[in-house]
Amino acid sequence: MNPAWQAYADVVVVGTGVAGLTAAVQARDCGLGVLVVTKADADDTNTRWAQGGVAVVLADSRAPHRPPDSVARHIADTLEAGAGLCVEPSVEAILADGPAAMTRLRGRGARFDLDEHGRPALAREGGHSRFRVLRAGGDATGVEVERTLLAAATDADVPVLTGHLAVEVLLAHCGAVAGLAVLDPADRLGVLRTPAVVLATGGLGRLYRATSNPAVATGDGIALALRAGAGVADLEFVQFHPTVLYTGPDAQGQCPLVTEALRGEGAVLVDGAGARLMGRHPLADLAPRDVVSAVITRRMNETGADHVYLDATHLNPKGSAFRRRFPTVHAACRAAGIDPTSEPIPVAPAAHYACGGVLTDTDGRTEVRGLYAAGEVARTGLHGANRLASNSLLEGLVVGERAAAAVAADRAIGYGRTSGPVRPMEPLTAAGRPEVIRDSMTRHAGIGRHGAGLAAALSTVEASPGPPDESPRARFEAAAMTLVARALILAAAERTESRGCHVRSDHPDRDDALWRRSQAVRLDGDTPSVSDRVRPRGTTR
Ligand code: SIN
Repeated sequence: MNPAWQAYADVVVVGTGVAGLTAAVQARDCGLGVLVVTKADADDTNTRWAQGGVAVVLADSRAPHRPPDSVARHIADTLEAGAGLCVEPSVEAILADGPAAMTRLRGRGARFDLDEHGRPALAREGGHSRFRVLRAGGDATGVEVERTLLAAATDADVPVLTGHLAVEVLLAHCGAVAGLAVLDPADRLGVLRTPAVVLATGGLGRLYRATSNPAVATGDGIALALRAGAGVADLEFVQFHPTVLYTGPDAQGQCPLVTEALRGEGAVLVDGAGARLMGRHPLADLAPRDVVSAVITRRMNETGADHVYLDATHLNPKGSAFRRRFPTVHAACRAAGIDPTSEPIPVAPAAHYACGGVLTDTDGRTEVRGLYAAGEVARTGLHGANRLASNSLLEGLVVGERAAAAVAADRAIGYGRTSGPVRPMEPLTAAGRPEVIRDSMTRHAGIGRHGAGLAAALSTVEASPGPPDESPRARFEAAAMTLVARALILAAAERTESRGCHVRSDHPDRDDALWRRSQAVRLDGDTPSVSDRVRPRGTTR
């Protein structure tokens, strides 16, 4: 490898969402030299698009007219949504740290919405037994979190290299991290020498045709970790948000989210004939997301429709409360020619959140020395088979901080120290054509899956010709998507049951005797292979 440029940092953070910026700012507070890289603009992240907010139990948000909440209740709701696959000690550790992490974020200047008594205004979303979701700007929580953390990074003098794509975690011969290979905006290869890399690259929604995710969510971090020798787990659990705005049969790419908080305020799902969809579930329209998405999909299959409706017209006939409370949804509806105050909103499920990811403990440590992961790219065990709504910003805050502290602690005991020369870069794994991958994943690895479809998807992805755009950047993204799609399909094919977000028509029941366990995927050469070895490390099983 002949890098065109080089730099050094004590720790390199990849990604500028909630987990990445939190880790970067915290690492500075620990006295480390930090460099942040992101392939897009600094605020071009999944975090920015989060509408619903941060699920957390705060002492000052207790409202006398509501039943009391507790961290124990939040834990119970998380475990229930996770459908038997959460790692309980991880859930307890992360949620217990939530209130303090939120207090620090508010201390950095994040402003959350208040009620008429000046207490944090709380929303309720699917799977929550209490009102406990903090939000900002009505339905623009992610914008406020991103704004606050970018300002904190600027105040802490954290350099952010935008337009820089991480393409390979470099390892020393001892197996520890020695650096990161990066393409700069002119596609020149550079090397960031560092003993610690924190992956915070977000999710993989762009593996599907329609998604709530922005264009950056191509699964890069999972591919980087796999290629570095780390295990990933629970990849088969891709959460589909039940309600993204339906804008037509050809909708693809990022579709506007219609936040679940609308259902928290009484909006109901109905089919084209006006019949309610969730009337029979004990939590009705606030059932966990996997349940709601599966019911919608079933009704769409029964009726041949490609969408259903969310009726929020009860909220206020005059429209001003809707606009004030849900400005982002209101604007997206109006842009699509829909008046949500007087007509039901057409919606359909779309890929939203990766519940699995790079196998880490609750301090972000992966199986590779010096490699850490936090946020959506990581699998701490918090989400199990289905993430509880609004637990992800909280996880990013908590594990982002913990990962930075782990880097500092590991450095102090020489854990991340590398020895010997750096291994040469591995050749890139096969790169398929992104649109072929998205079509196959949408058709066969979305909400309704079956063995034959998954096998067909794997063959199609593996046989797909390379991307038409041959630039190094396009090749890397396509290779990442291809590798992650192969790993995800393999894991989904292996799991012969239905659980959480993984729904199989040929194995419609949950099989606790055989499948109450996670599966890991690791690379064998350049082939992903599935195993049960979900290693114990810290509080991870
Ligand atoms: C929403 O506002 O419905 C999304 C919240 C989340 O995905 O946690």
